[in-house]
Amino acid sequence: MTAIAPSPTLVDTLRTRRERLAALINFPVVLWSGQPSARNFPANTYPFRASSHFLYFAGLPLTHAAIRLDGARLTLFIDESTPAAALWHGPTPSRAEIAAAMGANAAYPLSELDAHLAGVATLLVQDTTTGATQLTARGLVNPAQDRSLADALVQLRLAHDDAAIAEIRKAAQVSIQAHQAGMAATQAGQSEAVVRAVMEAVIMAQGMTTAYNSIVTVHGEVLHNEHYHHVLQPGDLLLADVGAEASTGWASDITRTWPVTGNFSPTQRDVYDVVLAAHDACIEMALPAVEYRDLHLLASRVLAEGLVDLGILRGEPDSLVEQDAHALFFPHGIGHLLGLDVHDMEDLGDLAGYAPGRARSDRFGLGFLRLDRPLQAGMIVTIEPGFYQVPGILQDPQKRDRYAEVVNWERLAQFQDVRGIRIEDDVLITPTGCEVLTAALPSQAKAVEALVNL
Ligand code: GLY
Ligand code: MN
Ligand code: MN
Repeated sequence: MTAIAPSPTLVDTLRTRRERLAALINFPVVLWSGQPSARNFPANTYPFRASSHFLYFAGLPLTHAAIRLDGARLTLFIDESTPAAALWHGPTPSRAEIAAAMGANAAYPLSELDAHLAGVATLLVQDTTTGATQLTARGLVNPAQDRSLADALVQLRLAHDDAAIAEIRKAAQVSIQAHQAGMAATQAGQSEAVVRAVMEAVIMAQGMTTAYNSIVTVHGEVLHNEHYHHVLQPGDLLLADVGAEASTGWASDITRTWPVTGNFSPTQRDVYDVVLAAHDACIEMALPAVEYRDLHLLASRVLAEGLVDLGILRGEPDSLVEQDAHALFFPHGIGHLLGLDVHDMEDLGDLAGYAPGRARSDRFGLGFLRLDRPLQAGMIVTIEPGFYQVPGILQDPQKRDRYAEVVNWERLAQFQDVRGIRIEDDVLITPTGCEVLTAALPSQAKAVEALVNL
């Protein structure tokens, strides 16, 4: 961090978050920021990302820092920069300046943290070096208390405050621009890497980073494809799942799928419209108290119905979903929580995603559902139905046997130019319904074609 601008709004936001946490627990908390991980030697590191739980209460992407929360009191632990660090990395704000920017009540060198660890709860950060420090520094581990902290953080972070929503809006806006640029730059004969570069350039030019590794691929059937070497061919669909992360750490997550030539083939258009119908139906239904699992089942039903209409599936849509036949083509969940993490709080496993007493299903059509809770105002979730022809699923002898009667394999063979389609938007649940934060990026087929043809 090279500069710091004191912000009364940030101080207020952080104080309110501490007060809300203090209403849920009765023990002090220490949260570590983490530190950069070495890439191939210590001075050459991967880009640093502060721990999200730390960011939520510290507001600043500090490295080698910790904060102690005790009621509404905030104490910062961080070392002053050394002349050697300044030589290589430039001047950094002083401890006092950082403490003032976040509204800390006190600030000490990191070496003094050990004297403030008695009885605290914490959560492990992702980098293993800091993780090891956490475990040894704390001595007495109290798993029950750490679990109470995790429960409280889930309760707080499930519903976003205005400051968080404002940051996610900023990230979403930049993601929209990145997708528009990617569509306009798409041309047969180029590689996927060129489109990825155009999209990420928009994000970087705004001083943001990507919230996760970009997916820009003509093989959308590989759900998290991170290869970019294919040359775009006429007739290909390009699936781009690219999202910006604001400098404050708040994420966005958008997928669009567009035809390389600027025109969907009739088969591509037919399947695209089925996926879009599932997407639109979920957004129509998204409001407080609705079970997210029911949105997943709704998307599954709309997909099944559409595939029956196209002659790919045979049977009654409800019965097809009960048999998990939709999962042959839609093998993942309808989406997830979005916040400081693109899959928010997944460092806690399913604690955030699954309401108390609920657990993952072992059903083929439900096992990858990442969120199974009633929606509540302030939540931001993704809605991301898709259609994929995954060889590992469709060529699996057991699945072919199990679904022999319900799939018209000859008809399916006519859709070979549809490998993977996903349409993903970020949806804020409001007191009376929802707001699609990424709605300014068109999802209608004609509008998408127009953007590619710009
Ligand atoms: N970008 C990852 C996901 O959509 O879940
Ligand atoms: Mn997503
Ligand atoms: Mn995504």
